[in-house]
Amino acid sequence: MVNYPPEPFRIKMVEPIKMIDRQTREAALKRANYNVFGLRAEEIFIDLLTDSGTGAMSQHQWSAMMEGDESYAGANSYFRLAEAMREIFGFRFFVPTHQGRAAENILCAVALGEGEYIPSNMHFDTTEGNIRARGGRPTNLVIDEAFDPGNRHPFKGNMDIDKLRAFIEEVGVDKVPFGMITITNNAGGGQPVSMENLKAVADVYKEYEIPFFIDACRFAENAYFIKLREPGYENKTTLEIAQETFALADGATMSAKKDAIVNIGGFLAMNDEGLFQKVKNELILREGFPTYGGLAGRDLDAIATGLREGLDEDYLAYRLGQTAYLGKKLLEVGIPIVEPPGGHAVYIDAGSLLAHIPPADFPGQSLAVELYLEGGIRGVELGSVAFAYPDPSTGETIHPKMELVRLAIPRRVYTQAHMDYIVKTFEKIKARQERIRGYRITYAPELLRHFTAQFEPIG
Ligand code: F0G
Repeated sequence: MVNYPPEPFRIKMVEPIKMIDRQTREAALKRANYNVFGLRAEEIFIDLLTDSGTGAMSQHQWSAMMEGDESYAGANSYFRLAEAMREIFGFRFFVPTHQGRAAENILCAVALGEGEYIPSNMHFDTTEGNIRARGGRPTNLVIDEAFDPGNRHPFKGNMDIDKLRAFIEEVGVDKVPFGMITITNNAGGGQPVSMENLKAVADVYKEYEIPFFIDACRFAENAYFIKLREPGYENKTTLEIAQETFALADGATMSAKKDAIVNIGGFLAMNDEGLFQKVKNELILREGFPTYGGLAGRDLDAIATGLREGLDEDYLAYRLGQTAYLGKKLLEVGIPIVEPPGGHAVYIDAGSLLAHIPPADFPGQSLAVELYLEGGIRGVELGSVAFAYPDPSTGETIHPKMELVRLAIPRRVYTQAHMDYIVKTFEKIKARQERIRGYRITYAPELLRHFTAQFEPIG
């Protein structure tokens, strides 16, 4: 039995939202070439496109911003962030970046060569894009359970240790300049990675002397999952679990727009001083001076405060409880989801809900369109639109193993009534599921195509 947890906050500022009529929604979709990224926010009732940068900051974060120090170099805000970084992550060096992908870009620019491989449980799309853009090959080695939506493995984000070892042996350790793991595994359902698995991954990387970088976007949610599900961690604080996590690694990339609950920001952290030197030079070229990295001083203060708030256990119980509530309600009305629900999102198994639409006709895309048409809700396709790619040797399209639509829940933004409305909308879609058609792409760029692709309905 999953209850909706009462929000551990009360609301003192509101942002009006409004449902526009069906005809206007249809016109908006056409104008957007059936890509929900092309909609205007005012055309949306409930926006579950992303949990990234869409959270509600607290009064503590807003007041910290008022103390932002906008000095170009050596700002007080930087040192306040450095203190939070030291306490939680404990890496010797870090640079702020304007968001997560900027950290990925810089890491790839200085540490990745053409034709080299970067293993992970699953890379998120921007990480994948940044690796490919430098001629590298991102490789996903998550456990097989991750691809079975109904399998309730408690840590479906875990890396397959045998696959990792075999992979390094196969491509050769010289071809692996660094290794990664994503916590939680966003591309695979927002699923957590256990501490046991993190340790095993770290051991393999250490054995082969491969530097280990954690994509730490949702580290606090991952820590709380460990506390809830992994024996031996029930009495540890999420801060202690986070510290234990990062002590295993040589560095991290993070989009602070997730678990630091800010609207913009990120960082790249590492222990290696030589690498830090190169990172700083690249950062100055692309982002800004190393004590601000493309952000305003006030943004650094919001991150420093948000990193600590993101680890608050009352908040995390509410956060994961809200997602679990939505997941359970959807299952109750017969909507297939990736089980158990993730931390930041519920992933709908569109491939199974719309089983009559083949992957080449993008069932996830169809579902994303229907969600908007039916309920003014915006989710995001994470299936063949986002992840299919041509095989480098044969040119043949390789489809991902799952056709998902992600309902990402912004932090501290929507209430139980919003969750119930989402479930009602799905019930209406399910009632006419067999009449839903597929889509074809009329335009797509080479990398990260889901952001700007254009579509037309088939038939
Ligand atoms: N890594 C993961 C696991 C992510 O989820 C994201 C962003 C990034 C890196 C890149 O961070 O957006 O700050 O550049 N994910 C967002 C999402 C966009 O909707 O899941 P960014």
